[in-house]
Parts: sequence; C-alpha cells; structure tokens
Amino acid sequence: MSKEATQKPAMAWWETAVVYQVYIRSFRDGDGDGLGDLAGLRARLPYLASLGIQALWINPWYPSPMADAGYDVADYRDIEPSFGTLAEGEELISEAHALGLKVVLDIVPNHTSSEHAWFKAALQGDSQARARYIFRPGKGDNGELPPNDWESNFGGPAWTRLLDAEGLEGEWYLHLFAPEQPDLDWTNPEVRFEFEDILRFWFDRDVDGFRIDVAHGLSKAEGLPDFGVQPDAPVHSEPHPAWDQDDVHEIYRGWRKVADSYDPPRIFVAEAWVANNERLANYLRPDELHTAFQFDFLRAPWRAKVMREVIDDATDSAAEVGAPSTWVLSNHDVVRHVTRYARSQPPALSESVWVRAQWDKEPADLELGLRRARAAIMLTLALPGTAYLYQGEEFGLAEVEDIPSELRQDPMWWQSGYTDPGRDGCRVPLPWSGDQPPFGFSPEGATKSPWLPQPKSWATRTQEALENDPDSILNLYRAALRLRTELLEGMTPPEWIDSPADVLAFRRGDVECWVNTGDVGIQLPDKRVLLRSDDGVEGGQLPSDAAAWLVDT
Ligand code: BGC
Repeated sequence: MSKEATQKPAMAWWETAVVYQVYIRSFRDGDGDGLGDLAGLRARLPYLASLGIQALWINPWYPSPMADAGYDVADYRDIEPSFGTLAEGEELISEAHALGLKVVLDIVPNHTSSEHAWFKAALQGDSQARARYIFRPGKGDNGELPPNDWESNFGGPAWTRLLDAEGLEGEWYLHLFAPEQPDLDWTNPEVRFEFEDILRFWFDRDVDGFRIDVAHGLSKAEGLPDFGVQPDAPVHSEPHPAWDQDDVHEIYRGWRKVADSYDPPRIFVAEAWVANNERLANYLRPDELHTAFQFDFLRAPWRAKVMREVIDDATDSAAEVGAPSTWVLSNHDVVRHVTRYARSQPPALSESVWVRAQWDKEPADLELGLRRARAAIMLTLALPGTAYLYQGEEFGLAEVEDIPSELRQDPMWWQSGYTDPGRDGCRVPLPWSGDQPPFGFSPEGATKSPWLPQPKSWATRTQEALENDPDSILNLYRAALRLRTELLEGMTPPEWIDSPADVLAFRRGDVECWVNTGDVGIQLPDKRVLLRSDDGVEGGQLPSDAAAWLVDT
C-alpha cells in the first residue's frame, strides 16, 4: 500500500476535497425565468455527484438587489426569492448530503447591500446603524473631496457622498466595491456579533462551511490614511491601508471558535488576494481559517518554470502552517482558463486575469486553449491538498468575449469607464443539451431567454454532447477525478523528477504526472499510461501542451 493511502483515514474531508463552484444564476433555471435557481440546481445534484467531486461551493444565494450579482446582500438569513425559498435551500443541503456532497456557502462580511436594513436605517439618520458603516466627512473647504484617495476595486473613487438631513451635501461612506456595497465597520462589536450569529444560523442548518468573500478587507488601517498615488502598482501587491491589515486575524479567531463548537466542526476557505504566500499563511494559523485559495496558480502563465515555482511556494508555505494547498484554475471573477491559455503567455505571473488586458488585442486560439486546459486539469488534480472547479470548465467552456455592450451586467464595465469588459464572459448560463440556446439551461416553454446570451457554438459543448463522446473533456474530468480519489489524495508534496525545462514532471505516491508546456514533444519514461490528456500521447511520446499520468508497468 502506498504512503498516500496509509495516510488517508486521518484526513478531514476539507483537506483533500475537490469542490465544485456553483454560480447559481448561471447553473440551471428550473422555473423558466432565464435565471438559474435552487430548483435547477437540485435537479442536477445527481449529475454533480456523478462527476466524482466531494463538495459544492454555492455563490451567494441571499436576497439581493443584484447590483453585484448577489455580492450585495440585503438579508443574510434568507434566500433570494428569484432563486427559491429557505425551505428549498434546506432541502438542497440535505439532498446534497444524501449524495455524499458537502455544502459550502459564500459569506460576504466586508460590505452589505445598500438595501440592507442596517444601511437603510443609517441613511435615515439612525446613529447606531450609521456606526456600523464607515461614514466620514470629506476633505476640502466644503467637504467636497473624498476622505482619502482609495479607489474602488471596480474603478473610480471608493467613496460616495450623501445628502444630510437638511438635504445638503453631507458625509461620505466607504465602498471598496460598488456604491451599492457599503463597507461595514468591523471595529464595531455589533458587526462582529451579527456575523457570528449569521454563521450559526447556517451551521444550524447543516451547512458544512463558508467561503469568505474578500477575507482580507474587513479591517482597515486606523485613521484610514491615504494610499499614495501609485498608478502602476499591480493589484494588492503594495501594502494598502484597506487590505490585509493585521487586525483582521482577531475576527477569524472568533469565527473559528464558532465553527469548532459544532460537531463535526465546520470549515472556512478564504478569498484573500494578498501580496505573497507568507501573508496568506497568516490566515491559516491553527486557530484561524482552514484553507485559502492559492491565486498564484490561477495567475500563472502556461509555462513550466513559473508553474513549478508557484507550486513549490504554495506547498511550502501551506506545509509550514499544516494547511492543505487549495488550487484554482477558474472562478466567477476571472477569464476562463481555456481563453487565458489561448493567447501568448506572459513571461511571469500575470495581473491580466483581473484586468482582462488582452481581450480586444490578440485573437484567441481556442483549440490550443482547450488542449492546454485538458492538460492543466490533470496537473491540478495531481497536486496535493484541495482543488476547486468552476462550473462549465468540465465542458471546456471558453470566456464569452463578444457579449454586446448593452447586455453586459457587471458593474465593473461601467465603473471602469467602459475600459474593462468585466466578468460577464465567464458567467454565461451553462449549456446542458440540445443544439440551440438556451441549450437546456431553461426548461421547455421558458418565458425568458437566459440572462446573458449563450454563443451558438456551444452546441458542441453541452453536457449531452460531451457525455456521448468518450474522449471529451467531460469524460477526462470524470476519469481524472476517479483516479485522484484512488491514488492521489493527500498532502504529500510533489517529488520533482529531472525533466526538460518546459516540462513539469513529479511523482506523488505511485503516480508520475508529466505535463509538457513547451513547443516540442518529449520522450516519456517506460511506464504504463494511466491517463492522458489527448490521443497524441502514444508510443512513449508526450507532445506539446499535453499531460500524462504514469504508473509502473
Ligand atoms: C467576489 C466578487 C465580488 C467582490 C465583492 C469578490 O471577491 O468574488 O465576485 O464582486 O468580492 O463582493
């Protein structure tokens, strides 16, 4: 028996799980209104279980005016009516559990919706409610300038000015994202108490854990000092008074106590865009959060050298705090990786997953992107720790880059002054079946079209079409997920094998993973091919942009 297998019984589910991200608006529409919902998701739970994943992460499903697709929460203890009811949510959790799937929800603690009861009360002058947000007088002779120079993550100033009780221009409030997402003041104990209570509300309903939205944003530097003008600094690379402040850790120590008071204990995964893995490891100390997304992997170009550095850095720093690594290729905020890999690759870690710099500058070779995506999932699933899959990546979906401007819905589009197309292109409703839109996303007789238009070319990318093709990317995902559970789970780091510079080659347990990111094929060692990313892998050859898992003959 291999070392990996002997370790297995001691591992908690969250140390090894492959988690499937459900972006609920775009997963499946059960009632025909063009928006995904709980009924649609419940109907597809057996499909998800059949993939061989262990858990679901569901993007925010709470009541929301949808200024930022649900990340503007109006009530943290209920479900958005267009998605369904709280009772349906409870059913969904128990149905997922019956299929062996854990359920992770998304909590949004940095800001509420401007339609949240607290903010509405704050606007009506309720001083107790106002103290839960960050209101400040402006600078300048008449307070006409924002209190500091912070910018919203979506572009433009992070402050909006309000009218006071007399209808005159009054104080400003902080919003690190859209104006409809006012930031909470986490120095206020009422805010802390409220969120610990929200955690209990869902843990009492058997939710297994939370993904924490903008986990690095809750605490701001005292006095809210200016950042200083650094127009060329890449996102979150410089210490910024709004991000990754040391005070934030105290909040998570409190949350951990809540999670540990349950049997079995509940878990957290942090979304924290911080400067480096040392800073990220702070969130993973034993009395804080369990895991955090390793975004360097998602920012890495298709280049063996960079990927290897990222993998080593992530596994080393996770090992130091005893946490599993957490690999992600795509999510609802970044350009889908088929498209990222379909253009020329930057020499080093890229910022462009966020700013989408290339979308109108260089045509995408989607066939190449898809080949690389097939190899990339074999790399991802051979790595230690946990992995997150984003819905539709198992269909090989590419970013939809030609959504007409007037149909775009992401606030990033207008807040960036129409320079950044935003994230709609990775959020287009999934194609399930049939040969034309809505491709089974909505039921027969639906009254509305999907909330974003689906490309006609998706006729070949539906679940139905891919299920029937033994060589499809969907069937590659199924095979890789099955083999991973059998042979590759665990936290042991990769043991690197000597290989050409453009090739990643490592052993974990009984399996060798070989990935060729270069332009020329290479000879593989004389071993049995357990799985290959495409049929070019034959006769001991590994062509460019392909991967193979090998075992002893
Ligand atoms: C979420 C985004 C959201 C933002 C504000 C992010 O990290 O993933 O989709 O727009 O937080 O809540």
